[in-house]
Amino acid sequence: MIRGILFDMDGVLADTEDISISIGIDYFRSLGKKARRSDFEPHLGCGEPEFFEGTARDLGMTDFSYEAASAFFREQYPSYLKRQDIALPGAREIVRKAREAGLLTAVASSAPAWKVRANIRAIGLELSSFDTVITGEDIRRNKPMPDIYSLALIRLGLDGSEAVVIEDTKGGVEAGKAAGCTVVCLTTTLSYSEAEKTAADIIASGVGALLTFDSVSSFNTMISECSGISSDAVLYGTSYIAPLKRRMPDSFTLDHAVSAAWKARENAYAPYSKYKVGAALVSAASGRIYSGCNVENSSYGATICAERNAITTAIAAEGTVGIDLLVVVSEDNPPAPPCALCLQVLAEFTRPETRVVLIAANGEKCEYSMRDLLPNPFIFPSMRKG
Ligand code: THU
Repeated sequence: MIRGILFDMDGVLADTEDISISIGIDYFRSLGKKARRSDFEPHLGCGEPEFFEGTARDLGMTDFSYEAASAFFREQYPSYLKRQDIALPGAREIVRKAREAGLLTAVASSAPAWKVRANIRAIGLELSSFDTVITGEDIRRNKPMPDIYSLALIRLGLDGSEAVVIEDTKGGVEAGKAAGCTVVCLTTTLSYSEAEKTAADIIASGVGALLTFDSVSSFNTMISECSGISSDAVLYGTSYIAPLKRRMPDSFTLDHAVSAAWKARENAYAPYSKYKVGAALVSAASGRIYSGCNVENSSYGATICAERNAITTAIAAEGTVGIDLLVVVSEDNPPAPPCALCLQVLAEFTRPETRVVLIAANGEKCEYSMRDLLPNPFIFPSMRKG
């Protein structure tokens, strides 16, 4: 029987990836090296030394000092934390709920102790919200070795078979499995297909997707029921997609998508029309949110709308997507629907019941379905199904 939950921190309870990568880029720039986001991605989740040293190695740097990088990181981190809310949807709720239900809880993060403490407070929790907190400083061998989770199990007095590990990276999943635990891999960092390739027992879109329990026994029921990874495939436009079973509640997802759309809108390139648009969509297979903004062009017709940019970003990350929700934000009031070109592109990847939520700058909101907006989309004859 499962009696405890062992949480990784970054990408599970806290969304700190952007902060870490921004500071990493600044640090390498101070050394005269241009690092990109993608240079750091393979080195996330296995501790701070690997985050810096692995990236430095890939960039061909031979005389890299981790100590200096770490000092820079520690100095910069608190000011970034003040600027943004790092709590992932459902993070506070699952920790509180686990305790109320009588489950033991641990944080087992490869990050240094100061960072784990700062993150826990920034999420709105206390160290005492967990039965034990283990950091990268408590162990010698980092993830993917099982040590951090083995130590958490010892501190909680549990066997591996009595705990669920919640992770978001390949190395973290391996560590949890090697410690003998049931492992949930979230699609907060990995795409659905990457998560599927890990050794995880369960895939879920976020901790918010695991909130359907209120006792040790209902937690056990939920875990045994959700080991099936996806549901049956359904038709989205021209493709069959299996929607992820463990999805965040609609209210969490909508809030998250709305803020992603507003954030993308800030980057809109609209020097000609001055009309900025942000869009965010939710992928059915992973529950992940992808956003886009409009990008205009000197040759006006080359302009690409926010909605289509969100779609291409999603496809670049996951391959063909099924879209369950689209949010579009603009300053128009009442809020403007997607243009006919975007509706046609959306039809390729949506179901007639896909929700389209439009929001104006004053917060006015209206909702349609794809069926309302484009009742008879054109689908290429050989691609028509169902
Ligand atoms: N625009 C979008 O981004 N989405 C739509 O569905 C309608 C229009 C953008 C394109 C252009 O940059 C600006 O709005 C004015 O047409």
